[in-house]
Amino acid sequence: MCGIVGYIGEQQAYPILIKGLHRLEYRGYDSAGVSMINADGVLSVYKSKGKVSALEASVADKDISGTIGIAHTRWATHGEPNAINAHPHFSQSKNLSLVHNGIIENYKSLRIELEKNGMTFCSETDTEVLVQLVEYTQQQHGCDLYRATQLALKSVVGAYAIAILDKRNPDQLICARKGSPLIIGVGTNNGAGKGEFFLGSDATPIIEYTNKVIYLQDEEIAIMNRNGDLKITNLSNVKQTPQVHTLQMNLDELEKGGYAHFMLKEIYEQPNALRICTKGRLNIVDKDVLLSGIIDHKEKFVKARRIIICACGTSWHSALIGKYFIEEAAQIPVEVEYASEFRYRNPVIFPDDVVIAVSQSGETADTLAAIQLAKDKGAFLYGICNVIGSSIPRATDSGTYLHVGPEIGVASTKAFTGQVITLFMLGLAIAKEKKTLSEDMFHMLVDELQKIPDKMQWTLDHNKGIDNFAQMFTYARNFIYLGRGYNYPVALEGALKLKEISYIHAEGYPAAEMKHGPIALIDEEMPVVVIAPKRGMYDKIVSNIQEIKSRKGKIISVVTEGDTIVKGMSDYCFEIPDTRDCYVPLLAILPLQLLSYYVAIAKGRNVDQPRNLAKSVTVE
Ligand code: G6P
Repeated sequence: MCGIVGYIGEQQAYPILIKGLHRLEYRGYDSAGVSMINADGVLSVYKSKGKVSALEASVADKDISGTIGIAHTRWATHGEPNAINAHPHFSQSKNLSLVHNGIIENYKSLRIELEKNGMTFCSETDTEVLVQLVEYTQQQHGCDLYRATQLALKSVVGAYAIAILDKRNPDQLICARKGSPLIIGVGTNNGAGKGEFFLGSDATPIIEYTNKVIYLQDEEIAIMNRNGDLKITNLSNVKQTPQVHTLQMNLDELEKGGYAHFMLKEIYEQPNALRICTKGRLNIVDKDVLLSGIIDHKEKFVKARRIIICACGTSWHSALIGKYFIEEAAQIPVEVEYASEFRYRNPVIFPDDVVIAVSQSGETADTLAAIQLAKDKGAFLYGICNVIGSSIPRATDSGTYLHVGPEIGVASTKAFTGQVITLFMLGLAIAKEKKTLSEDMFHMLVDELQKIPDKMQWTLDHNKGIDNFAQMFTYARNFIYLGRGYNYPVALEGALKLKEISYIHAEGYPAAEMKHGPIALIDEEMPVVVIAPKRGMYDKIVSNIQEIKSRKGKIISVVTEGDTIVKGMSDYCFEIPDTRDCYVPLLAILPLQLLSYYVAIAKGRNVDQPRNLAKSVTVE
């Protein structure tokens, strides 16, 4: 949710920190701050409410000479978004400054205890409790900061990724994590007694400088030294051996590449992203599917009594499409669960269940907790994630990466279609092992699936007028999205996209259910988006459209190229190429993404950073 950047080395820290904050701004953007130990040895903390640009403006006349620093962009949990509650936070003596991602659940009792012992607080945050606790522990034990941090963190309940500066030791940067991600970048300058380290809550602020990274593990604490030394231990001071990974991400993927927004770029990237996602997995010549994550564990899937998919938000919608397909193709019952509900129930999980986590970030706190619960109950865990090396892939027994590239826009687009096509490949791979499809049907489904990226390109090329059309709907206060079968989850996802970035209320509904409630809302001001492809329950959906028309609702439809019946009944129509019923979601969602984008633009919204939302929800 929030973003952390850190640097220690020979370069000036400030430009690295600010650039990193800009790259991380998609994670949280209600306030930002930076702390450095400057050339004169002063530990400075500069913070401001609002975007990173506001911070930059407020720092213009300040000393920013330091070569060590930490910075933070915040998504408020405890305490309203203002400069006081923004990070970094000072300790009472102002010797320490600290940034934090996560939530300290026992912060109230810790604060009461610290106040009893004479510590005073400036903010309402749980983070300030952490820095005061570290300082108090150091005073009580007379130990160094590293040891004090280890001891302090032992009494903390909750999730954290932290970085700490100590003005008495400008050659060391300390960080630790539990439940919130933290990545150390090993600089190319390291060697011959010189060191350079970068720190990030994800790889985006680091990749510009180095592709050598270490993923800090839960309950690990690290000390990075200016001379190039790096020590990592757990909280009990047992030395850990860090594994250095090489990141494949490239810088272009983090830039807008000529598009006005990341969301628009990511919408248009989808055909190619899905080509990469299916590369080496869909074999065009043999008409086969090769998912190593399944091949290595095929017995688990063949014998699975049931599959449970846990996810949140957009990932939950793709999971629902996955359910329909896996049940149809592989004949295994599939349950789709909101991770946040699942984790707090006492769900029945059998040892021969397969539990799949679907998550773009691989860090969503509820999804992570849900699979940990399933693991404790003996299920086999499979992850479908985009961010390589994130927590969910590391916690699962097997899995498949999406490989659609970094998704920066808060509203998920290419990760959604990447998840859906991955679930299709997974369903086909299981069906192959279980022999639940005829050979002809299997080959035909593989063949059609590999044509989808080209059909997506066609869809994007043929729906260019959406920007003008979207202007007409800025007046709307509500939208209804309707779909049946495979397109019901598309209706949910289309409605979510509109809500997220335009702040117009929108509801997705199974088209036939409309009669049981939403039809009461329909009048001449209500836009109704209907996904009505030629296949599937076409006639039924035509009847549903009649019901809306006769109540004067405005129809926006997604139809198969060449359709005349629904087109004739619609006020506006998006065309998609013909495909198998099950694969329609991969095409139908594209105009709906564009519709929400252009309505939001027409309403003057910040589509990449919609209010109150965060890209990666690492708190409950
Ligand atoms: C947040 C994001 C959504 C995303 C959801 C689940 O709400 O804004 O775009 O769908 O989290 O995230 P995940 O990373 O687990 O897919």
